[in-house]
Parts: sequence; structure tokens; C-alpha cells
Amino acid sequence: MNTEDFRPEKEVKIFYPPQRVLMGPGPSDTHPRVLNAMARPTLGHLDPVFTEMMEEIKSLMRYAFQTKNRMTFPVSGPGSVGMEMCFVNMIVPGDKVIVCRNGVFGGRMIENVERHGGIAVVVEDKWGEPVDPQKVEDALKKNPDAKIVAFVHAETSTGASSDAKTLCELARKHDCLTIVDTVTSLGGSPIKVDEWEIDAIYSGSQKCLSCPPGLSPVSFSERVTDLVKNRKEKVHSWFMDISLLLNYWGSSTRTYHHTAPTNALYALHESLLMLAEEGLEHSWARHRRNYEALKAGFATLGMNYVVQEEYRLPQLNSVFVPEGVDEKEVRRRLLDDYNLEIGAGLGDFAGKVWRFGLMGTSSRVENVLFCLNVLESVLSDMGMKVERGAAASAAHQSYAANPMF
Ligand SMILES: Cc1ncc(COP(=O)(O)O)c(C=O)c1O
Repeated sequence: MNTEDFRPEKEVKIFYPPQRVLMGPGPSDTHPRVLNAMARPTLGHLDPVFTEMMEEIKSLMRYAFQTKNRMTFPVSGPGSVGMEMCFVNMIVPGDKVIVCRNGVFGGRMIENVERHGGIAVVVEDKWGEPVDPQKVEDALKKNPDAKIVAFVHAETSTGASSDAKTLCELARKHDCLTIVDTVTSLGGSPIKVDEWEIDAIYSGSQKCLSCPPGLSPVSFSERVTDLVKNRKEKVHSWFMDISLLLNYWGSSTRTYHHTAPTNALYALHESLLMLAEEGLEHSWARHRRNYEALKAGFATLGMNYVVQEEYRLPQLNSVFVPEGVDEKEVRRRLLDDYNLEIGAGLGDFAGKVWRFGLMGTSSRVENVLFCLNVLESVLSDMGMKVERGAAASAAHQSYAANPMF
């Protein structure tokens, strides 16, 4: 065999992705400033200029998470790696963990507990509902030997938000540490790590931070660092052992752990800087304002939300597909004809629900109006009775009634 035998069968050219508008469950659009930052010259991961920027990322992350935790840094891997890092470091085989499941990602947490040798005590809530604090308290009372409470703050599969402050209070009252998934909430909804005394928190770069996928911001309390320091048996992952990672991210005399994705980290630096420039409260209010406008438009199309109003995530809008509409065909037309990506329902919601993301830079007035207009056109073309222009008009009225501060 010669080298030519291994050439690709089809001719391969430069890959130019189409310019989509990403309004699904994530990734969201990357801001041009962030894309630009990624294209800057690659530096070595121990270059002093780069390590100075790493310190800035850590302090910008502390602002985003509202924490003074020393151990706050981005993991080189998507949100799932941040998730796994929390469980693998904090669980000693045989530990009992109370895990709340009200959608797909709570299920992933159960998998993590079991794969790392823990015993999962599952608190179930219906898809579309928040985690019920009463059920968590009952489980804590029934399992006084539980070590950890784990839950998803913003369940992307349904669009439901859970009361992280109350759940953390309950966990602490029963002497448990907490693991909180904020992949879809960081930057889009309030998170106060120190005030709520969250012990381990992870997120993702690709949702409300307007950054490409592939990095997972995490933060750990001193209680977690002490726990890991005092573990008798080694953490069951070399790559994710936080005490080893600290030699790179945590100390001034940095030593090689793995080759950090330098250009991806420039992107995160830029996106966190943009969040700090905008201000957290402004960003949370922007996400809410755009949600209000989208909601007003959906109402004119007779589209109902899955989640009760008070538990809705402004950045993830799950709505029932109108009766008699071919939901897959709508998504296909939106993507093929208008370059607009929206999300399908998962699990029990497959075929019944659409998920509209308004995350990060995708959460903006133009996107809301564009989405409502093209959705209205597609539904009308497909035979649904709609009043043309009503959705955008309702959104306009909502914007006028809710001026940005
Ligand atoms: C709530 C939640 N947790 C975890 C993840 C996993 O993140 P990733 O896909 O970046 O691994 C996601 C991804 O969408 C998510 O929405």
C-alpha cells in the first residue's frame, strides 16, 4: 500500500461553515470579539504572558460566579468534564449522594455517582418542574449518612430553574456538601456561590458566555479542597484530580500538567471580560427582557410553555408544538431556509416540544424579532392559521413596556 491509498475518497476543500443564528439549547452564537480573540497568536502554556492572562481569567470567573474561592478555574473540556471532575474528586466509593433528577442532566449526575462508586439516592421530580426542596429535605432526613447533595440549577432539557439557594441551605443544615450544575445558568441567571455557600459548581463556555464549546468553568470551596487533600485513596482520574491541576492553575510556580488549550482560553478571557463590562445584573436583566418579548410573540401563535412561569429559565424556552404541526419539518425549514437553529425536545418531550435558546450574545432584540417573524411565516406556509405580523408586534410592545436600565 502506498500513501495515496489513504487519501479521502471525496475531494476535501476548506471548511466554511454557514452563518447560522443559534437559538437552540446551546451552543449559542459566539460573539465576534470572542472569535477574534481566538485567532490571536498561540502562546506556550507556560509563557509568562499567558500565565498572567490565566490569573485574569480566574479573577473574571470569580466575578461571574460571585465567589472568592481560590480554586476557581476553567477545565480543559466541555461541561461534562466539569461535571465529572466534581464527582470524581468528591466521592469516595461507598459514599451516599442525594441526586435530584428533573430532566436529562440530573440523570447524567446519577451515572457519575454510580460510576465513581457512590450510592445514588435519587429524588425524582417531573420533567418541566423544579427540584422540590421538601423532597430533598425528606431524603436528607431518611439518609443521615449522605455526604453530598447534587442538582442541576438550570435544566436545559426542560427549561426549568431550581431554587439553588434553598437547596444549598438544606444540604448544609444536614452536613452535606453540594454539587451544582450551572452549565445553562452562568451569565444568564443569578448565581451567588459564596452567598449560597455552594461547594462545587461547574458550567460550560458555550451557553450564556457567548464563547465556543470546550471549556468548563469550575469553582470549589475550601471544604472541597480540604476533603480532596485528606482523601486516603487517590482520586480515580489522573487528569481530573484537582490537587494535581492546582500545580498548574493554582500556584505561582506553575508546572506542566497538560497542554492548556491556549487559544480557547483567550476566547474565554474575552467573553468573561465582556460579561464584566456589561455587568452581571445587566446581563441577567437582558436575558429576562428578551424572554418576555419572545413569550409575548409565542402567545400570539398559541404556543404554550412547558414550565410554570415562576420556574422558567429566560435563556431556555421550552414550548409545546402547536397541534397538527410537523415539528421536524418546521425545524428543517428554519435551518435550511433561514439559517435559524432551534432545539428539539428530548426524552418524553421528543416530538412534542421545541426549545428556543436566548443565551449570551444570542439573547438580543434582533434575534427575537427574526425568530418570531420566520417562525410565523413557516407555520403559515405549512397551513397553520396565524395573524401575520402579530408575533413581532407583541414582542415590540413587550420591549416598549420593559425598557432596559
Ligand atoms: C445542564 C447541562 N449540564 C451539562 C451539560 C454538558 O455540557 P457539555 O455538552 O458541554 O459537555 C449540558 C449541555 O448542554 C447541560 O445543558
